[in-house]
Amino acid sequence: PRPILLTRHGESMFNLNGRIGGDPELSATGDIYATKLASFVHKRLKSQHSASIWTSTLRRTILTATHITGFPKVQWRALDEIDAGICDGMTYEEIKETMPDEYQSRKLDKLRYRYPRGESYLDVIQRLEPVIVELERQRSPVVVVAHQAILRSLYAYFTDKPLDEIPHIEMPLHTIIEIQMGVPGVQEKRYKLL
Ligand code: G3H
Repeated sequence: PRPILLTRHGESMFNLNGRIGGDPELSATGDIYATKLASFVHKRLKSQHSASIWTSTLRRTILTATHITGFPKVQWRALDEIDAGICDGMTYEEIKETMPDEYQSRKLDKLRYRYPRGESYLDVIQRLEPVIVELERQRSPVVVVAHQAILRSLYAYFTDKPLDEIPHIEMPLHTIIEIQMGVPGVQEKRYKLL
């Protein structure tokens, strides 16, 4: 058995203001999570000869992993958050007011809805394929620091959730989901650090 640890980035300045996308830094709370995550990972993976830390290319995940030392870090573009296209940087309230049709279409079919000049959940699930292949192929533990839509998709893959549920899976901040690979069935543990 080999653990895979999944976590969202610490709270970002955009999370604080209810904005989606962008490339914000962490809030003060997000910084605290980064520190706590590092001690957790160091303790949890203490006995491991090797492990790797995967982030997206966005600052909020790189900053969240910044205090983790002793293991190689890999940045994956495929782990970047769903591209909200023309809605990037907006709040859901702003989208609802200025683009009510877009807002409504997404609400009706969040899995298939594609943001204009951006992505749908189905697009995200497709681009995660190489990440999943590599996660399966690894022989040592992996810590994945990524984003809400990304982690919903990865989590659904490892726990066999139906496609239509993916966009609605609860994926809280400041919580680590540990999944055991190489054991029958799904074994998960959750650690809420903040
Ligand atoms: O910034 C994007 C959000 O993390 C994705 O959440 O798919 O529920 O809008 P959503």
